[in-house]
Amino acid sequence: MHPMLTIAVKAARQAGAIITRASSDVGALKIQSKSFNDFVTEVDRTAERTIIETLKDAYPDHGFLGEESGKANVGAENVWIIDPLDGTTNFLHGFPQYAVSIALQQQGVLTQAVIYDPNRNDLFTATRGRGAFLNDKRIRVSSRTKLQESIIGTGLPFRDFQHLDTYLAMFKDMIKKTAGLRRPGSAALDLAYVAAGWYDGFWEIGLSKWDIAAGGLLIQEAGGIVGDFEGNESWLETGNIVAGNPKIFAQLLQTLAPHLTDALKS
Ligand code: IPD
Ligand code: CA
Ligand code: CA
Repeated sequence: MHPMLTIAVKAARQAGAIITRASSDVGALKIQSKSFNDFVTEVDRTAERTIIETLKDAYPDHGFLGEESGKANVGAENVWIIDPLDGTTNFLHGFPQYAVSIALQQQGVLTQAVIYDPNRNDLFTATRGRGAFLNDKRIRVSSRTKLQESIIGTGLPFRDFQHLDTYLAMFKDMIKKTAGLRRPGSAALDLAYVAAGWYDGFWEIGLSKWDIAAGGLLIQEAGGIVGDFEGNESWLETGNIVAGNPKIFAQLLQTLAPHLTDALKS
């Protein structure tokens, strides 16, 4: 394993242990609302602090973009992008679908990725150019070729409703053109599932960098494609993301195209 990935895995497992310890008594947690339907607990904050301490111990010059602590030294050559707990709403309800997501960007290029699911003890990892793995076994995107036979993951709008009507029109079309849609509630795991071939594709509007950086690299290293709604590169910046195996990716773009408003074009 690449040494930087080894450190990121250590940090992700430490965060996972903090999350798992707290999951036995979510009722005791102090919950703060950052904005409408956007909650944070001391678990998110402690997990992020632990991840950053571990990475900083090994790499004092690196920068950090964390969901809870924001930007630190992001002009550095190496910047870690961290979501300490992706799926906080699930976590708070005791719904066992959430994960730790850590990615490294080197001079703007994603090079390392870890997504850790503490409930299943599933560790998804990737290093650019070296493939994607689940618990040390190589993973690949699915080989399904027909959208009609595909399972597609997605995320429903729940905080920001500016694209709700557009999203619902996309959703209606997708329901008719696929074998089924899934919305478990952690974008990081959704993307990991595309990499593992469990979903054939995925799309969501307006995610954040920390939701998708690690998952995007995992998919690329598993032989899949990640793009924005027109198939271009802006997905990491805009958070408007489509992903899938190459055949399904193209069919997802075709299905979304008639619904795109100017704000959703790249
Ligand atoms: C959320 C989850 C969810 C997605 C949201 C994200 P959080 O992350 O990934 O699946 O639909 O848009 O914000 O807030 O639980 O870290
Ligand atoms: Ca998230
Ligand atoms: Ca989060």
